[in-house]
Amino acid sequence: MGTAMTIKPLIILPDPLLRQVSKPIERVDSDLQRLADDMLETMYDAPGIGLAAIQIGVPRRMLVIDVSREGEEKQPLVFINPEVVKSSDERSVYEEGCLSIPDYYAEVERPATIGVKYLDRDGKEQLIDADGLLATCLQHEIDHLNGVLFIDHISRLKREMVIKKFAKAAKAKAI
Ligand code: NI
Repeated sequence: MGTAMTIKPLIILPDPLLRQVSKPIERVDSDLQRLADDMLETMYDAPGIGLAAIQIGVPRRMLVIDVSREGEEKQPLVFINPEVVKSSDERSVYEEGCLSIPDYYAEVERPATIGVKYLDRDGKEQLIDADGLLATCLQHEIDHLNGVLFIDHISRLKREMVIKKFAKAAKAKAI
């Protein structure tokens, strides 16, 4: 008897939940671990390489990431209460997308390497030095916990165009 994982519906722009600041997690228990597993399942199903709890409507500071390549063994990572403790002056640019802003991609510049303090799925304190795609993905997801989206890092003109497009699509769906 395993506990079945559940794919959760994703919160999509312009849902105001995406602008909410998520609350710190006080206790790592089996309910939280189940939430982490559901988040991973939802992320793999999408498919995506990162997901913050707020993207399934849960305003708590937890995110999941897997930046392994297609065909490689899965490397699921769970970050609870992640905190950036250092970041490099060197910056890198990646084309980013977001499961909450489907089918939109834009280049974003961020610090190339960062140090992140967090609790893992077992509630153990960890410190990770991340670079490359993992560094970018971690920063993108930690932004979500603060109500920040990757489109906040692009030009205002482009951002307003994207928001307008998604607002229009949401309205059309509501009719
Ligand atoms: Ni995102």
